[in-house]
Amino acid sequence: MDTFDAIQRRQSVRSYLPTPVPEGLLSRVLEAARLAPSASNRQPWHFIIVKDIGKREAIAKSGLYGKFMVGSPVVIVGCGDKEVSPKWYAIDTAIALENIVIAAAGEGLGTCWIGSFEEATVKELLKIPERYGVVAMLTLGYPKEGLDVNWKTLRLSRNRKKLEDITSLEEFGTPL
Ligand SMILES: Cc1cc2nc3c(=O)[nH]c(=O)nc-3n(C[C@H](O)[C@H](O)[C@H](O)COP(=O)(O)O)c2cc1C
Repeated sequence: MDTFDAIQRRQSVRSYLPTPVPEGLLSRVLEAARLAPSASNRQPWHFIIVKDIGKREAIAKSGLYGKFMVGSPVVIVGCGDKEVSPKWYAIDTAIALENIVIAAAGEGLGTCWIGSFEEATVKELLKIPERYGVVAMLTLGYPKEGLDVNWKTLRLSRNRKKLEDITSLEEFGTPL
């Protein structure tokens, strides 16, 4: 699948098959994170792969909108080192997480970003050192519905701003 295809097919998946993610595929999407760009190449990120159901339940309980992580075989917790990159740790970690999202879509895997969690709870549960911030999490697994279902319709009907409303030529407000 080419990159643009993967970007078009991607959608937030909140319902997963219990099928485990093969280790080879997990390594591949993590490699996509490892290769991400970062400010001054500081690579301030650290990714915790959480498969344990007890841990997933505890994390899910800490937020309102991530309950479905209980049903996803893998949760990836994206942490950023504030000491290594005080200004850019969150952006760098987010870029790496999005690399995972796109790579996963290319492999037929579903993901969903999760920002709904209680950071202190997650840090304690996963023994994350003080200097790290928990930037965001991703669920990862095989979508219950499959990524191919109606993806064209989905793309067409997707609620996004129009390109002309989010772009300018040369100066803010001049139409492209
Ligand atoms: C930083 C970030 C945090 C998000 N947090 C959540 C979340 O906690 N729970 C959830 O169900 N979706 C979450 N989402 C997914 C968005 O709701 C979703 O990307 C958006 O509605 C667009 O839908 P799509 O991803 O299917 O295109 C988050 C997305 C981002 C980028």
